[in-house]
Amino acid sequence: MNYIKFAGPIIDDAMAEAVKQTLLSGWLTSGPRVAEFEAALSAYHGGRPTRVFTSATAAMEVAFEVCGIGAGDEVITSAMTFFSVGNMIEKVGAKTIFVDCDLNTRNINLNQVERAITPKTKAIVPTHFSGLPCDMDRLYAIAQKHKLRVIEDAALAIGSTWKGTPENARHSSRIGAFGDIATFSFHPNKNMTTIEGGAAIFADEAEAKRAEVHRFHGISRLPDGTRDVTVAGGKFNMSDVSARLGLGQLAHLDAWCAYRQKLAALYFTLLEPVAESLGLDLPARAHAGEETGHSWNMFCVLLPLSRMTISRKQFIEAMHKENIGIGISYEAMHLTTLFKARGHQEGEFPNAERISREIITLPLHADVTLADVERVCATVVRLLRENDKHKV
Ligand SMILES: Cc1ncc(COP(=O)(O)O)c(C=O)c1O
Repeated sequence: MNYIKFAGPIIDDAMAEAVKQTLLSGWLTSGPRVAEFEAALSAYHGGRPTRVFTSATAAMEVAFEVCGIGAGDEVITSAMTFFSVGNMIEKVGAKTIFVDCDLNTRNINLNQVERAITPKTKAIVPTHFSGLPCDMDRLYAIAQKHKLRVIEDAALAIGSTWKGTPENARHSSRIGAFGDIATFSFHPNKNMTTIEGGAAIFADEAEAKRAEVHRFHGISRLPDGTRDVTVAGGKFNMSDVSARLGLGQLAHLDAWCAYRQKLAALYFTLLEPVAESLGLDLPARAHAGEETGHSWNMFCVLLPLSRMTISRKQFIEAMHKENIGIGISYEAMHLTTLFKARGHQEGEFPNAERISREIITLPLHADVTLADVERVCATVVRLLRENDKHKV
C-alpha cells in the first residue's frame, strides 16, 4: 500500500536537469535566473512589480518595512492563520490586532475588521485560507475607506483568481495581479516550490525597488562604485538555483491548480453525502460562480470531536497507520505563548479556536491520484464510523 503524503511537490527530469545546469553554470546565488524568475512571475501577474525572497515570511517582513509599519502602528489580521503573520507584525514593532475568521470559508471576518480599526491602524493582513480568495471587493472597499495598506498573505494562493474567467480576465484577476501588496510562499507544500522561497508583488515599482534594498543588507550602490547602507536591511535574497526550479514549476502551475480543483471536487463528491450524518464539517467551496478561482492548496475538514471516542491526535495516528499523511493548519495564533503573554486568552475568537481544535488537512497535491483520494475518503469515513459514540 503506497504512502499518501499530505503535501508534496512534483519535480520532473526537465526541472532536475535545469537545476543541474544552474548548479554547474558558475553562478549560484542571486543572478540571471532570479531576474528571469521575477520577470516570469511578474508576467504571470499582469506585469506587476515582483521581487523574490528566501520565504514568504521574509517577503512579508520586508513588505511591512517598505510600508513604514512599525512601533505605534496596529495591524489587523485573523487569529486563524500561520504563525509567521503575527510574528512578522510583532518583529517590525507593530501591534497585532486579531479578529475572528468565518467558520465556513476560514477567511478573515471583514465585519470584525471594520470594527477593529482605530486611528493607529496602518494595515490589514488577510490570509487567503487554503487558496480561497477573501472577498476582495469588500476588503479593498474597507481599506480605501479607511486609507489602510493591505498586505495579502497569499502564501497558499498563487494561481487563485478573483472574478476571473479562463477566457479573458484570468490574467488580471489573479491574486497578486491587482490590489496592494501580495506575498507568496514557495515552500514544498505550496502550489509550486523553490524548496524554500517566496515573492512579494507590489502595486508600485518604487516600493519594489525599496524592497530590494531591505532584502539585501540595506545596501545601495554609490556612483563611485562603493556601497552605502541606508536602512538596517536583512539577508533574504533567493539563490539562482531556487529561482531556476521556480521557473520550471511556474510553467506547470495552471495545470496543477486545475488538477487540484479536480481532486477537491472528488473529495466533495465522496464526502458530501456522508458528512452530515458523520458530523464532518467540509470546507467552503469557491464563492458562487468562482469555481475556477480556488487553487485548493489544502482540503481541510473539521472533525466531529464531541461525538468521537478518540482524540484528533489518535485519529491522525490511525490515518498514519493506514499510510495516509495528515496535517494540521493552523493553531489559533492568539493562544500561542507569545500572544497569551500579551494578554490574549481562550474564548476571544470562537471560530478560530474551534477550527484550531478540530481541523485536519487531507492529502491534496499534484502528486496525489484520484484513487488515492478515494482511499483517503474511505479511510476517514471508516475511522469516523468505528469511533463514533452514536454509531451511525
Ligand atoms: C498562510 C501562510 N502564510 C505564510 C506562510 C509562510 O511561508 P514561508 O514558509 O514561505 O515563510 C505559510 C507557510 O506555511 C502559510 O501557511
